[in-house]
Amino acid sequence: MAGELPRLKREGAKSKPEEAPEEVLYTDTDGSGDTLDPDLSSLWWYGTVDSQFRPKGRNWPLIWAYIIEGGGSTKTTSATSMAVTAALDGYPGVVFDLDSNMSSTTVLGYDETALKGRKTAIDLLYGRATLDEVALPARYRIGDGDDPEEDFEPIENLRVVPGSPAMAGADLAIAQDADRNDWFAEVLRSYEGDDMVFYLDFPAGYGKMPYSVLRMLDEEDSVIASIKPDPKAVKLVKRLTDELERVRDKNRGCRSVPGRPTLKRLILTGTEPPTWPEQVAARRATPTVEAMYSSVLLPYIRYSADAEKIYEDQVPLPILLPDSVASVDYREVMRRMWAFPYLNECGCDYCPD
Ligand SMILES: Nc1ncnc2c1ncn2[C@@H]1O[C@H](COP(=O)(O)OP(=O)(O)O)[C@@H](O)[C@H]1O
Ligand SMILES: [Mg+2]
Repeated sequence: MAGELPRLKREGAKSKPEEAPEEVLYTDTDGSGDTLDPDLSSLWWYGTVDSQFRPKGRNWPLIWAYIIEGGGSTKTTSATSMAVTAALDGYPGVVFDLDSNMSSTTVLGYDETALKGRKTAIDLLYGRATLDEVALPARYRIGDGDDPEEDFEPIENLRVVPGSPAMAGADLAIAQDADRNDWFAEVLRSYEGDDMVFYLDFPAGYGKMPYSVLRMLDEEDSVIASIKPDPKAVKLVKRLTDELERVRDKNRGCRSVPGRPTLKRLILTGTEPPTWPEQVAARRATPTVEAMYSSVLLPYIRYSADAEKIYEDQVPLPILLPDSVASVDYREVMRRMWAFPYLNECGCDYCPD
């Protein structure tokens, strides 16, 4: 059934946290409670992916990279909400927290105390640990203590590569040792699991670490810009497309890495309601985005006043507030992600040559 997120035939696909009421599960669109049985052949990729939805000839999953300059853009909210939405529906994935502020790590249930003695993203970067040694089962907080059994509930089908304050030194580490530039390539080439998407939550700038990751993206992968609808944020999208062009140019003709990161999607968050205090900026920026980026624009994510609670509560949005307009909108966004994988093949300025 075109337009629906296909379900995997696996155990995890049936389980979901009790907090998420049945009626908001987006696969249950006819309200019957039945799982919709999608016709995958009509949905996806016209034969370019294998039965695990993986680009052909590749042992690693799709990569969705949430990147744009500027903190507070909504990268982490979008990355974690989309990853959790997919996981609740049975799509296994890994969120890579590449930011030293550890935001997605926090939202997915781990703080610095919980991570004591554990490996993090920085160990991957230094080649001191494998993905399976670093990735932890994503979870969300249900109690006030630190007991892994009592105070946390697992999020099935989702793992998180925890971030670390040490990631603030990642650019320097690569500058000092050129071999480190291959760290993400090594993670991908040695990958053996059955995840469907790697969700990459980036820091707020474009240094050597983001470069080392972005050059591993191919045309099937997606660079996703998640921004608030204010004019300053919109300007940053052009800087992102310039940066992606730079990465593509630098790697043109290079046979050892794909080198084709492409702006595939743009998410505008907090667009409605019009009572929102920043409504004037939003009104000005939304038409600009529609004019400039319509070919990559996903459905809008509306404003949810409690969205920031994901950090203090350590619970991702689709579980904390499953009925909020933002959660409903993220489900629609995920449906689009799967339904139109080649949104960028439109001849627009943002597609690769
Ligand atoms: N749909 C939304 N409605 C209202 N506020 C939002 C929404 N999405 C995100 N926010 C808020 O925007 C702020 C920045 O989001 P965050 O995801 O942390 O950005 P980034 O990862 O780019 O730094 C947070 O306070 C978050 O709660
Ligand atoms: Mg963030």
